[in-house]
Amino acid sequence: MEIEIGVVGVLLVCLAGFLALRWEGQRRPRPMAVWMESVFLDNPLRRAVFPPSLVTRAWMPPPGARVGELGAGTGMVTALLARAVGPSGSVWAIDRQRGAVARARRRMAAWPACTVVVADARHLPWPDGQLDAVVTVAMLGEVPEPDRPTVLAECRRVLKPDGRLVLGEYGPDPHYLTPGALAYLVSEAGFQVVHHRRGWWQHALVAVVDGSNGP
Ligand SMILES: C[S@@+](CC[C@H](N)C(=O)[O-])C[C@H]1O[C@@H](n2cnc3c(N)ncnc32)[C@H](O)[C@@H]1O
Repeated sequence: MEIEIGVVGVLLVCLAGFLALRWEGQRRPRPMAVWMESVFLDNPLRRAVFPPSLVTRAWMPPPGARVGELGAGTGMVTALLARAVGPSGSVWAIDRQRGAVARARRRMAAWPACTVVVADARHLPWPDGQLDAVVTVAMLGEVPEPDRPTVLAECRRVLKPDGRLVLGEYGPDPHYLTPGALAYLVSEAGFQVVHHRRGWWQHALVAVVDGSNGP
């Protein structure tokens, strides 16, 4: 009986901690600390329950594609993108935290077609209309709400006219954006959602520039 009460107590403390983190994450969006990324994102449990392949299952970059990634973190999604585009393609990944970029660079050291740099998603370091796709996972919710349209406008600027915007979200992330919220933001930014893949507490959306020829 005492053990059961202890277990319930621990679960309640964990739940309260999770709710407090989420409340704070939604109230004051900011980048996840790099040590937290290493602990919470870069581990076998995350790979099993909230796989980075969420986005490549929604849209698999073809070999030779030129892909930009925003908020690469430790580079788990970057690695999948680089494998998909192959040596004839390119992946340009950015993150605003130096520590995350250093980790992603180490992971991607063997991939010459991949470049990871420190940059802010509000000012993308790429020219207009060059990319086949822009991919971002669990990043947009970390951008302060008033700046999210700026990030999406930047995505639009760097995409080719028939390019894809691919966004993924995971439920446990304190900055989680719901399917409705994400679809609304993307539509308001002038994109048309062509696919929205929903799983258990996770989803990925594929959009094209409104008025383009579609998928
Ligand atoms: C929750 S992590 C996700 C990392 C990776 N996408 C993944 O799923 O494994 C979000 C990352 O976005 C980055 N980030 C947040 N705001 C950003 C911004 N304005 N520009 C670039 N990166 C940003 C953070 O530094 C952090 O590394």
